[in-house]
Amino acid sequence: MSNNREQWSSKASFILAAAGSAVGLGNIWKFPYIAGENGGAAFLFIYLICIVLVGLPILNIEILLGRATQKNPVGAFKTLTDKPFWKYVGALGVFASFTILSFYSIVGGWSVAYTFEALKGTFSSFDNPQMAADFFNLKNSSPMWVIGWHTVFFLMIVGIILSGVRAGLEKASKFLMPVLFGILMILVVQGLMLPGADGGVSFLFSPDWSKINPQTFLLALGHAFFTLSLGMGAMMTYGSYLSEKDDVVNASYMVAFLDTVIAILAGVAIFTVVFSSGYDPAAGPGLVFHVLPPLLAQLVGGYIFALLFFLLLTIAAVTSGISILEVSVAYLVDELKYSRKKATLTMGMLVYLAAIPCALSFNLWSDVTLLGTGLTFFDAADFLASNVLLPLGGFFLAIFAGYVWGIDEVVRNLLIGDSGSVYFGNSIFKSSSFKSVFSFLIRYLSPVLIFLVFLYVLGWI
Ligand code: PHE
Repeated sequence: MSNNREQWSSKASFILAAAGSAVGLGNIWKFPYIAGENGGAAFLFIYLICIVLVGLPILNIEILLGRATQKNPVGAFKTLTDKPFWKYVGALGVFASFTILSFYSIVGGWSVAYTFEALKGTFSSFDNPQMAADFFNLKNSSPMWVIGWHTVFFLMIVGIILSGVRAGLEKASKFLMPVLFGILMILVVQGLMLPGADGGVSFLFSPDWSKINPQTFLLALGHAFFTLSLGMGAMMTYGSYLSEKDDVVNASYMVAFLDTVIAILAGVAIFTVVFSSGYDPAAGPGLVFHVLPPLLAQLVGGYIFALLFFLLLTIAAVTSGISILEVSVAYLVDELKYSRKKATLTMGMLVYLAAIPCALSFNLWSDVTLLGTGLTFFDAADFLASNVLLPLGGFFLAIFAGYVWGIDEVVRNLLIGDSGSVYFGNSIFKSSSFKSVFSFLIRYLSPVLIFLVFLYVLGWI
């Protein structure tokens, strides 16, 4: 174990950084549109079940693996078992980090670009979402525009990562997360005060069960992984900068709680505006880029609200983007003994280039689809990451914890560290009935659910 490896300065810093990773475009861009397309509250309900029964246990395992080994995903598995297979599971995480960042950075770039457009007051001249959609498509038809903003976003995350764990990741999250929360609260309050806001609230909270089908489960489970940053080693890597005295169970609760609350609040902020203007909540991925800018800009004080919204989106994207890139950087630092600077610049460059095909999916390569899937590079990267790589990573994590490392060892490790909280800390694992429930979730429920989802994705059920 290298003793010059950096650590978070406190558990609170870890929680903020990990919440920064979890709260991202997944919460503010994806969750609202997936919920919008899949019946609102009905989706929310299934999604919450997936978070509690699958997401939370796996989040504990992932952070714990990092803390116990003080290593990146590849190194973590290597430390705990000599079976070479598991090293490749770690490597799958590094690959997933590439895939995710290649489309994430494009959306991150849009968010930065839209913050500037909001600053210029561009949106106040849009009368309706169609105008905003035309604007979006026009901008995206220029490869230089998309690549340029992707570059700006990328430079931001590379800059933070270069500064290291404490001076970079920790400092950025400590400053940005409270700002994010403050902005979100302003937007929620203004949304709730709009006439017709209750339509948005009841869309999110009164379920229409007829909207639920097997596809809903697939989406909800995939999204639970995505939103909690699970299945590719981001939480493991962040966990590897924790010290043994920190309680993983308590930190996991906090991260899952913050992530869920922020997704719901983002849903409230967005759907109140959409409903009060009488628009369709099922607008798909364009919801925040097409529908929202004109609706926000037309409110009283709309200039500020539009600006705040895109600032919120940018902050969310940056604090998650850094955790995605950090996985591959930590891999090079731990395993190949690169300096942080060399690792960041190497991986940064590689992932930056890997994102170019996703950038071209909106213009030069909009007709290029992958191997008969009908998906562009951008859509394929999103699909592959959220519906295949992350659940697959989660599946292997559950198998590793449940059968290779073993539940006894997991629980013994979970019991190390103390949060001082009697209710939301690791002392719950002292109860043997809780331990059996946890064991059931990790050994049986999670792998089986994920497996079923795969069969469904492959079209076998
Ligand atoms: N959780 C992030 C979001 O919701 C995305 C992410 C996925 C980050 C995987 C890290 C790892 O936007």
